[in-house]
Amino acid sequence: MTRARLHAASPEFSRLAFGTWRLLDSPARATPEGLLELLKTCLDCGITTIDTAEIYGGYRVEELVGAALALDAGVKQRMELITKAGIYVPNSFHPERRFAHYNAAASRLVKSAEKSLRWLGVEVLDCFLVHRPDWLGSIDETAAGLNQLLQEGKIRSAGVSNYSASQFAALSTRMDQPLVTNQVEFHPFHLDPIHDGVFDQCQERRLRPMAWSPMAGGRLFAEDDAAAVRLRAACAAMAERYDGASPDQLVLAWILAHPAGPVPVLGTTRVERVQAAAAALNLALSREDWYGLWEAAQGRRIP
Ligand SMILES: NC(=O)c1ccc[n+]([C@@H]2O[C@H](COP(=O)([O-])OP(=O)(O)OC[C@H]3O[C@@H](n4cnc5c(N)ncnc54)[C@H](OP(=O)(O)O)[C@@H]3O)[C@@H](O)[C@H]2O)c1
Repeated sequence: MTRARLHAASPEFSRLAFGTWRLLDSPARATPEGLLELLKTCLDCGITTIDTAEIYGGYRVEELVGAALALDAGVKQRMELITKAGIYVPNSFHPERRFAHYNAAASRLVKSAEKSLRWLGVEVLDCFLVHRPDWLGSIDETAAGLNQLLQEGKIRSAGVSNYSASQFAALSTRMDQPLVTNQVEFHPFHLDPIHDGVFDQCQERRLRPMAWSPMAGGRLFAEDDAAAVRLRAACAAMAERYDGASPDQLVLAWILAHPAGPVPVLGTTRVERVQAAAAALNLALSREDWYGLWEAAQGRRIP
């Protein structure tokens, strides 16, 4: 599989990342052994990058990922780890929390990254992202935390998630090293990054965004969703031009085709769907077909 840096200042990652948000929803993947099986499939397909977050699975997924990696040193050594922090919600581990809140203060980010290192069982994180903009967090505070982690060698690169272009630009002014990515929602039903300046900014700064929920969180496969039905029909109609590619493969090809070079973060927990996703990297959608899928998803022609 092609490998790519998110930015010249980032380590190399695989062109697709494996997302871990839904692991605990799948009994087959909620154990270290079950997850290890899927990670081996990822590696066989060239997917070496794991995307996780402190909050996933009620703050339990990082521990699961760490336990799976601990079972096989060879697998662990070949994988890169991206994690995120900054969202804090009341739960059974944290009954003292009254309200869900964001916190991207320096001390909080450092504490969370150190906790992620322990859970994941590694000395350094390949990339650490601020999960959401903290409306009460100053850019000086947030940058101080990221700069400290970079300086102490606890993270190889830093980025953000769900930041607007202006939030990204503001935080960048205080960083000692460039932010390497902005992980945002992007798929044919959610075009915001094309229109709100985020993907323009990524191109301007020569960094790759990461695209979360590439299958629209599973909506692509809904039977009772008119836009999803239209999009699947459009995929089926063009499949023969792409060696019989499936709708999920064509939608991945659609995401990959954007000139900002997004790295899709896969959400599936199934071996065969990971394999199909990896094969989608070989598909090159034509310009007209890209717009054809846009038209089907949006239910209208371009303006
Ligand atoms: N930064 C952020 O704020 C943020 C937010 C959300 C997510 N993320 C990251 O992005 C990753 C992916 O997000 P996501 O889970 O929403 O991804 P997604 O791929 O859009 O949705 C995954 C869901 O779709 C189903 N699915 C996938 N392929 C399918 C197919 N061919 N047929 C039927 N169902 C299919 C999966 O079920 P199966 O497991 O059964 O295949 C799963 O329930 C997360 O794991 C996380 O790492 C980041």
